[in-house]
Amino acid sequence: MEFYYPPQESKGRYRYDPTSLKQQGPARLFGYIGEDSLVAYIAERLQANALNQGQLSQPISLFLQKTEENQLKLKNSWVQLNNLLSSTNFIPDWLEFSLPPGESFSRDFIQDRRDMTLTLTLAKLAAQMNARFSFGSPTETAKKQRQAFYQTLEGLGRSRPVVSLIHEREGELSDREFARQRLAGCNPTVIRSLQASDQPILQSVGGRSLTLANATEVDLADAAAANRLFVADYSFLKDLTAAELQPGRYVGRPTAVFYRGDSGLEPALIRLSSGRVLFPPQMGTAKDDWMRAKLMVQCADLTQHELIAHLGDTHLAMEAFAIATPRQLPQNHPLYRLLKPHFRFLLAINQRGNQLLLGEGAAIENLLAPTREASIDLINRAYREKSFASYALPTQLKQRGVGVDSGIADFPYRDDALLLWEAIARYVEQFLGRYYPDDVAVQQDPYLQAWAAELGAPLSHDLADAFPQAPSWLPSELATQVDLDLQDLPNYPRVPDFPTAEAPGRLTTVQQLLDVATQLIFTCTAQHAAVNFSQFDYGGFVSNAPMSLQQPPEQADSIATLLPSPEQELAQMELTFALSGIRWGQIGFPDQAPSDRGDLKLLQALRQELSAIERCINSRNQKRLQRWGVDYPYLLPSRIPNSINI
Ligand SMILES: [Fe+2]
Repeated sequence: MEFYYPPQESKGRYRYDPTSLKQQGPARLFGYIGEDSLVAYIAERLQANALNQGQLSQPISLFLQKTEENQLKLKNSWVQLNNLLSSTNFIPDWLEFSLPPGESFSRDFIQDRRDMTLTLTLAKLAAQMNARFSFGSPTETAKKQRQAFYQTLEGLGRSRPVVSLIHEREGELSDREFARQRLAGCNPTVIRSLQASDQPILQSVGGRSLTLANATEVDLADAAAANRLFVADYSFLKDLTAAELQPGRYVGRPTAVFYRGDSGLEPALIRLSSGRVLFPPQMGTAKDDWMRAKLMVQCADLTQHELIAHLGDTHLAMEAFAIATPRQLPQNHPLYRLLKPHFRFLLAINQRGNQLLLGEGAAIENLLAPTREASIDLINRAYREKSFASYALPTQLKQRGVGVDSGIADFPYRDDALLLWEAIARYVEQFLGRYYPDDVAVQQDPYLQAWAAELGAPLSHDLADAFPQAPSWLPSELATQVDLDLQDLPNYPRVPDFPTAEAPGRLTTVQQLLDVATQLIFTCTAQHAAVNFSQFDYGGFVSNAPMSLQQPPEQADSIATLLPSPEQELAQMELTFALSGIRWGQIGFPDQAPSDRGDLKLLQALRQELSAIERCINSRNQKRLQRWGVDYPYLLPSRIPNSINI
C-alpha cells in the first residue's frame, strides 16, 4: 500500500492532555493548539495556581479575578458570535482556536443545536412561570412546572418522556416497569447474572422463599441454581465516602436482585446501603418503604448511566482513538477512511461537554450527588478497570451472563444491538479484507503498528510529540507547575489492554484488526445511541429516576422529601432533554461521502443491511407495544447517528 499524505502535520495539532493522564483518566485532547495558545494556557494555570495558594495580595487577586471574568465574557461572546454566523456563509471553524482544523461543528449542526436550544428555552420559561405562580406545596409546584415543560415541548413538535406516560397509566413506578427498565430503559448495561460473590445477599435472608407477583412461592436457592436470578449491582459507588457527597444530596449503593419468570424479570429483593434487605410488598413490606428502595436503585442507576455508561464508556473512551487516528494514519489509509467518519464532532462535543457537564458548577456538579472531583474519580477508575475487549458487545453480554443463552428471552437492547453488531462486523470485514489478506499484511503495516503502539503502549514510553511542548524559554520549574512536565506520566496505556492484555500495543492478526474496528464503530454508533437518546425518555421524569436524592431513603419523611427539589427537577429535565435533543447524521450516511468507489459500494451494501434491520426492529416493536405498551426505538438504524456528536 502506498500513502500520499504522511500524518506528520496532524501530529502537531492532535496532542494529548497530560493533566488528564496524570489523574489516570481517559486520554483527552490538549485543547490549546499552537504556541500562542499554549502560552495563554501556561499564564492561565500559573495565575490560577497563585490564586489558589493565596500567593497574591488581595487587590491583585481582585484585579485578576475581574480580568478572568472579562475573559470569560469575551470567550462566551465568541461562542455566541460563532453561533450567530453559522447561518451565514461564515465558516464556524474560523473562530475555533482550541480544536484541530476540520474538527469543529459544522454550520448545519450548530443550526440544529440552536433550534433545540430555542425549544428548551421556551419550555424552561413556561415551567418557571408556572412554578412562580404556584402557591401550593413543593409537590404541586413541581407538577405544574413539569406539565408546563412537557406541554411546551409537545406544542413545538417534541415528545414528553415516554416513562411519564407509563407512570400515568400504571399510577407510579410499578415493579413490572422497574424490572423492564433494566432491559429496555436508558441503562441496559448493568443487569447481570447472579455470581458466586453474590451469595452473601442470599445468605443474609436466611433461606427465605420469594413470593412472586402472581402469588407463586419460589425458593431463592433453587432459583439461583436454575440461573433464574439476575442482579443490578452498583458497587462502583462502594468507595464513595460521606465527605464526597454534596450537602443535601445523597446516592446510595443498593443491590437489586431480579427473578426471571416465564414473562420476564420481576424484582425479588433490594439490599439498601445500610445492609437492610427489602422484599416486594406482596411479602409484607410497606409499599412506601419498597418505593423508596426502588428509587434508591433508580438514582444509583442514573448516576452510573451518566458517569460511566454514557460519558465514560462512549464519549471519553473513544477520544483516544479520535486523537490517535489522525496522528498516526495517513488520510488515504484504509483504517483512517473506515473510522474517521465515526469520530465526526466527537472532539468538539467532548470539549463542549467539559464546559457543560464536567466543569466547575456544570451539570454533573449541579445534579448528581457526588462532588465534581468524586464524580471524575469514579469515571477515571471505571475506565482504568475496563479492558478494551469489554467494549465488544458479545464479550460484554457473555461477561454479564445475559446473552441469548441466559434464559432472558426478551431483552430489547441486546436483541437489537446484536443485529447492528453483526452488520457492522460484516462491513468491517469486507472493507479491510481488501487490504489485509493475511496476518503478515497486518504485522508489516508500519502505520497500523504505530497507531496500535500509541494506543496500547505505556505512556512513559511515548514519544514527546504526543504531548504539548512547553516553549524552550519556559523555565522547567514553571512547566512542572502547570503539569506540562512529562517526566512523571504514569506507566499505563491510554487504552487498557489494547488490543489485548497479552500483547498490548501490537496488532498481530487480521481478526484482531477486524475486532478492534468493529468495536470502535459499534461504540460510536449503536452503543452511544442506546444510552444517549433514551435519556430524556427515562431520566426526564424525576419521579422515575432522580439524579440525586435529598437524603437516605430511611431518613426521609416522605417520597416528596426524598426526591429532588422543583429547581433540581427542572435542571434534570433540561439536561436530559439537551443531551438527547439533537440527532445529527445517520449510520451508513457519513456527511462527507467517500471518494473511493470501492468504499462507496461497501457503504451502499451496509445501507441495504441497515434497511433490513430497520424492518426487523419495526416488526419487533409492534410486538413490544402489544406486550409492554412501549417500544424500543433507540436502535432503529434511522435513529442512530454515524458518530458521537451530542
Ligand atoms: Fe452523548
